Amino acid sequence: MVGVKIIGTGSSLPKNVLTNFDLEKMVETSNDWIIQRTGISERRIAQDETNLSLSLDASLCAIEDAKIDKSQIGLIVFASITQDYITPASASLIQKELGIKKACAFDIAAGCSGFVYALAVAKSLMESQNHEYALVVGCDVLSKITNWQDRSTCILFGDGAGAVVLKRDEEEGILASNLTSYPDETNSLYCESFKINNPFSQNDEIPGKLVMDGRQVFRFATSALVYEVTKVLQKANLDIEKIKYIVPHQANKRIIDYAAEKLNVSEEKFIVNVNSYGNTSAASVPICLDEINKKGLLSEGDYIVLVAFGAGLTSGALLLKW
Ligand code: UT7
Repeated sequence: MVGVKIIGTGSSLPKNVLTNFDLEKMVETSNDWIIQRTGISERRIAQDETNLSLSLDASLCAIEDAKIDKSQIGLIVFASITQDYITPASASLIQKELGIKKACAFDIAAGCSGFVYALAVAKSLMESQNHEYALVVGCDVLSKITNWQDRSTCILFGDGAGAVVLKRDEEEGILASNLTSYPDETNSLYCESFKINNPFSQNDEIPGKLVMDGRQVFRFATSALVYEVTKVLQKANLDIEKIKYIVPHQANKRIIDYAAEKLNVSEEKFIVNVNSYGNTSAASVPICLDEINKKGLLSEGDYIVLVAFGAGLTSGALLLKW
């Protein structure tokens, strides 16, 4: 076995649709502004769903697509910043719900880049620990930490989950990866957690909401997309002409258009669904991947780049051979 391949994809979205027109009634904004500045028309916002229920749905869908028995999964890597529990890890909860008796399971946090990071980590672990099958999930319920009074952020986000099943294979399916973190930019996108509240230090403040310097993150995102795609292709010594699709993190249509122009590739190469789901953070890349897979747009041997950016600030890309 020389490589790792994606053999199944899945996704899950909350039922409740929040349109730009609904948002017009909540904050001072307009459908026109949101569409022009972001490309988003609507997004899904959880009501009865939880981070775990969405993750499980997406996982079961990916396992069904992979046509394997879930007991074969030996590794679960979960990417999120909005888990239902601080501990245990959501990966352990997914494992429990799937009824998998023994597996290596843990969560990672890399903001909206989380799924790309998780996939790279899972590949390395499969190779070093000899796991035959792995489940990698990206899920976020950002509506839990969104400031619903802040029009510059609440119009952007949506909730959802995406998952893939990986298999050790004769052929390499993940040809290269590149992961980067920029600590000087931690302040441009953050959400504070619980403050210390113990017998020695009293603090009643509740956890914060997501804060973002939109313009700064926009500037970062445009250059990070171009940098990561270029870097991962360099590592594999592959020309961008050979790439069938680029699946970018869905934050803003303008960011994707800018990257397409800078990379000098047609916009059709970039998969875009931000208009329907907004920015679903760690879930956006696997949701897109599941969409194109289920539409039958992928053929064996196709080269695909997954690329993301987010809090940290972080960014990363993977080159896949389908
Ligand atoms: O997942 C990773 C993280 N997130 C991102 O990638 C987001 C990156 N940033 C962005 O996508 C964009 O910066 C935003 C969509 C957040 C904002 O778009 P922008 O074109 O950068 O707008 P801006 O922040 O420069 O604001 C322009 C104007 C401001 O008014 P003034 O100061 O010019 O009078 C804002 O107050 O637009 C105003 N504005 C709004 N107006 C109507 C900000 N939000 C809204 C709104 N509706 N929702």
